[in-house]
Amino acid sequence: MAITTSAPGKLMLFGEHAVVYGYPCIVTAVDQRVYVTVEKNGSDALYLEAPDLGLMAYSKTIADLGNKDVPKSVAFIEMLYKRFLEQYPQDRGIIVKTKSDFSSSFGFGSSSAVTVAFAKALMVLYEIDLTNKQLFDMCYQAVLDVQGVGSGFDLAAAIWGGTLFYEPPAKTVETIDIDGMAIIVGYTGIKADTATIVRMVGEMRRQQPMVDGTMKEIGDLTQTARQLIVERNWEHLGTLMDNNQALLQQLDVSTDRLEELIQAAHQAQAFGAKLSGAGGGDCMIAMALKQNQQAIETAIESVHGEVMHVSINAEGVRVE
Ligand code: MEV
Repeated sequence: MAITTSAPGKLMLFGEHAVVYGYPCIVTAVDQRVYVTVEKNGSDALYLEAPDLGLMAYSKTIADLGNKDVPKSVAFIEMLYKRFLEQYPQDRGIIVKTKSDFSSSFGFGSSSAVTVAFAKALMVLYEIDLTNKQLFDMCYQAVLDVQGVGSGFDLAAAIWGGTLFYEPPAKTVETIDIDGMAIIVGYTGIKADTATIVRMVGEMRRQQPMVDGTMKEIGDLTQTARQLIVERNWEHLGTLMDNNQALLQQLDVSTDRLEELIQAAHQAQAFGAKLSGAGGGDCMIAMALKQNQQAIETAIESVHGEVMHVSINAEGVRVE
């Protein structure tokens, strides 16, 4: 019996970087999904086919999971499987196939989505009942095994879906209703490595005590943003986006390309705009009235940004 699951990617709206240090963030799940199919096999190995990750036939015996060279592209699946087997031992292996609606380059969180979809598929395959929080804890452990850093906000978006006010590590996961405004996403064309940038900011924080103040300001601003979303005060929320961007500039994670796209969005009447995610490249987001969406998209394209057509508030992990 084969089980197929899927989980959504994410977009960070407010609070990136500060969330690594315990402050809240606001994240929304996007309708770009990663699909995982698992099936038991008769051998003692994990077989993996992930053409979107450039892998056609990867295999590893259960005894060897996590040892020897683990290619970066399969690390999340392999470590999750290892953690899963520690809790729920099995002597026979599985075949795993993955497929993605989006490229891992955009910063939409393909690693977290694949980790969550895979974990959910294992639960269903072995008929194990877990709460969302238990599923989160297992996935978060695997992510820390692989990259050592991260707040888990992307896993929460992949599990719960919707738009979330999140405090790490899933201490608070609160759904907020954000319908009524347009979010425009522009890709810079530059792939950034999240773990490297998070470490760089961590180093800056160790060397410059004032960085703690910046993190706190981002945290406070995120609390206000949540309130403004409840009040549907989009104009003021846009100003907060700009303020959030200014604080991210202080952390030195914005780039000329991001600034160019952000400025183009402003000139086309966006309420606000900022980078989304770790920075260093990847995507920016702008917030606007729906009637201004097209003009903002054209402005982003005019500076050679790639407009990503995504819907926010997507459903969390599910069985297909
Ligand atoms: C990266 O998309 C967002 C960061 O806050 C890292 C994290 O929360 O894990 C920079």
